[in-house]
Amino acid sequence: MSRIAFGGATAGAVFVFVLGCQRGAHVPPPPGVSVEIPTIEPQGRTAVDAPPVVVAHRGASGYAPEHTFASYDRAIELGADYIEQDLQLTKDGVLVALHDPTLDRTVRGDPANCTGRVIDKTLAQIKTCDAGRWFNDAFPQYARAEYVGLRVPTLEEVFQRYGAHANYYIETKNPEDAPGMEDKLLALLTRYDLRGHASPRSLVLIQSFSDASLRKLHQLDPSLRLIQLIDNRGSATIRASLDAVKSYAVGIGPSKGSVDPALVDAAHARCLAVHPYTVNEPNEMAALLAIGVDGMFTNFPDRLTLALQVKPPRRLTASAPSMPPCLAQPR
Ligand code: G3P
Ligand code: CA
Repeated sequence: MSRIAFGGATAGAVFVFVLGCQRGAHVPPPPGVSVEIPTIEPQGRTAVDAPPVVVAHRGASGYAPEHTFASYDRAIELGADYIEQDLQLTKDGVLVALHDPTLDRTVRGDPANCTGRVIDKTLAQIKTCDAGRWFNDAFPQYARAEYVGLRVPTLEEVFQRYGAHANYYIETKNPEDAPGMEDKLLALLTRYDLRGHASPRSLVLIQSFSDASLRKLHQLDPSLRLIQLIDNRGSATIRASLDAVKSYAVGIGPSKGSVDPALVDAAHARCLAVHPYTVNEPNEMAALLAIGVDGMFTNFPDRLTLALQVKPPRRLTASAPSMPPCLAQPR
């Protein structure tokens, strides 16, 4: 398998499908990264025989401050297939990677700049804030001196750092409060040549709890690979929505407690991937893999890569034998 050395460590899976494809990788890898051109997986695999993907939830946020370069770097080192970005929009219209609509939980600094709503602050204000110190205080067992002083990255800075050498799983967060978020996202993807998916694994997946946001994105570009996030609802309720979801999305991101075999079967019958969130315990990972999910969001990518090595044979879904190749399926 092709490998990539990253910061002295080695990670393979994340880059296997995205490099060497027709788009070309015009953005140089981050400092310390060396790249080998990989082989591309055969086309035509189905959802159920593709290996489940490891989505680093806010980066490797169990080990490093969420949505910082440290967190994304660690995720890649640990073998994640995707690094996740939650998007917020600043007062001056810049997309930043931050989970909460407010700054209070994950940044520290001058209260005038570093507390309150993101949408009420300029990027210059937010850039004065420390995005790592809170983590050292909250998780002393994982604290590192180098986390102090980390900054909130803009989405553009994320693309500049990782370019085509990572896969991105980007969430439009509270898009109803940030008009134009989708257009800005697509403009950035275009500028950094990240809209293609010439390989079986998607370079970019876009997720949202807002079906309006996803429908808008689908209208802007029907080839985008979109994931409908779903809050904590029952399997039957979600199953009843899948035909509608299929009209614009390629998968669902349900809460882990919603997932049962019937939901996975119903999704796979429609070539919809199932990527539950947020799964951090090995026993939960094993149970979901046995049910047949196509990937998971986790704060601890290494735990999921390990679970994938020891997982039991994957359950064959009822639809599997007759299922057509899901070429639009995200992997
Ligand atoms: O995007 C999947 C999962 O991250 C949704 O929950 O609140 O962590 O964005 P949240
Ligand atoms: Ca998210």
